[in-house]
Amino acid sequence: MTITVVILAAGQGKRMHSTIPKVLHRLAGRPLLEHVVNSAERLPDQNTIVIYGHQGQEIRDQLAHLPVQWVEQTEQLGTGHAVMQALPHTHAHSRVLILYGDVPLITTDTLEQLIAQTPEQALGIITAHVPNPFGLGRIIRNSKNGITAIVEEKDATEKQRTINEINTGIYLVAAEHLQKWLPQLKNHNVQKEFYLTDIIQFAVSENIPIISHEPRSYTETLGVNDCAQLALLERTYQRHMADKLMHQGVTLYDPNRFDVRGELSVGHDVVFDVNVMIEGNVTIGNHCYIGPNTLLSNVTLGDHVDIKANSVIDGATIHDHCVIGPFARIRPGTELADHVHIGNFVEIKKSRINSASKVSHLTYIGDSDIGQSVNVGAGTITCNYDGINKHKTTIGDRVFIGSNTSLVAPITIGDDATIGAGSTITKNAPAAQLTLCRTEQRSIPSWQRPTKKEKEL
Ligand code: UD1
Ligand code: CA
Repeated sequence: MTITVVILAAGQGKRMHSTIPKVLHRLAGRPLLEHVVNSAERLPDQNTIVIYGHQGQEIRDQLAHLPVQWVEQTEQLGTGHAVMQALPHTHAHSRVLILYGDVPLITTDTLEQLIAQTPEQALGIITAHVPNPFGLGRIIRNSKNGITAIVEEKDATEKQRTINEINTGIYLVAAEHLQKWLPQLKNHNVQKEFYLTDIIQFAVSENIPIISHEPRSYTETLGVNDCAQLALLERTYQRHMADKLMHQGVTLYDPNRFDVRGELSVGHDVVFDVNVMIEGNVTIGNHCYIGPNTLLSNVTLGDHVDIKANSVIDGATIHDHCVIGPFARIRPGTELADHVHIGNFVEIKKSRINSASKVSHLTYIGDSDIGQSVNVGAGTITCNYDGINKHKTTIGDRVFIGSNTSLVAPITIGDDATIGAGSTITKNAPAAQLTLCRTEQRSIPSWQRPTKKEKEL
């Protein structure tokens, strides 16, 4: 039977104290709702419906790329009412898997187990034993351990509140059961809401088996209601990523100071020093070292790359044996061939630098093409911008650029050229010659340093 996944995301999320809809708050760089959709879309033979409400247009606009059907719940009258909105769009012979837009860590694995363990006509439910059940629906069982009801915190007796097995809110149920049960829900409870949890009672009275499944870790089922919970889930997610990498043989000097906000693929013998942040798609080869306080965003590194402390690298491809930093900034569109050295306070933008070239100190290279075995002296600037347009700098092989040189683009420096320090180069420099542009040095023998005047009495 096909699965219709229904993700509830219409709630306001008042406790976030935010103008941003709750499900757009980010965990590991991605909106909460996107995490849930990603876990659902990996299930075989499914289609996904998102029930949205509060600030719905904003959610739809930001998440338009997701492969889901959007259904609006104009008034938030409770979880049961929310699922009812999906029914007209649900195939009568499918099974409905209900998820929450603010429970982002749920894994495809757990959902697959729920599906595998629940017979087609049964009601499947994910429960969890949690250290602090406050605020959650409690699972009520009979003497034979069968589930007989779910009671909300606000409706529970003192005794029921001591139960620490909770309703995660995730269920699997045949669409035909929902068609029959949901219209019968009543809002006779403290919150005056149509509770989805009341379907348990219908299942009990119709002798429909109720199967519960508990995931390996209850943290998967935690929801986000406020910023403290969001932070807790972020740390849980990051720790899980760190553990996964360490099990693959990656060295993390401190797994608690390592963040991945995207996809990371790593070879063997890679070491991350403390406070490294990974963003977007990052691929790292073998035998690399990533120094402390480094940001790698959409970067590909070859083998034996050494990134020193406090470097920010974004949108670049860096080949084998490069050495970068400390305090380097590499910007999008940059490609560094093997054995390139980039030193401190160097910014490189949209440039290609060929093998074994060095740009070691205090330099800006933008829109440039630099040959191999070039040495760019300290304080060199490619003046690529005339205030309106960007222009290109081309530097041949084995060029030596003296310190404190300005290269005013568009400009070409021929192979084996040497540029004298302190030059402002505005015309192409020929190959294999010394080119310089500075006023000649002079000395004034008669010059005397001023002396301090005696104070007049
Ligand atoms: C619900 C469960 C509770 C469970 C808990 C797990 C009910 C009655 N209670 O309680 O047993 O322990 O989840 O987190 O189901 N939503 C809508 N439309 C609505 C109401 C809610 O889309 O009209 C969405 C919310 O955006 C949220 C989710 O449903 O993502 C849960 O709603 P919420 O009101 O937070 O339910 P809880 O009180 O947490
Ligand atoms: Ca909730």
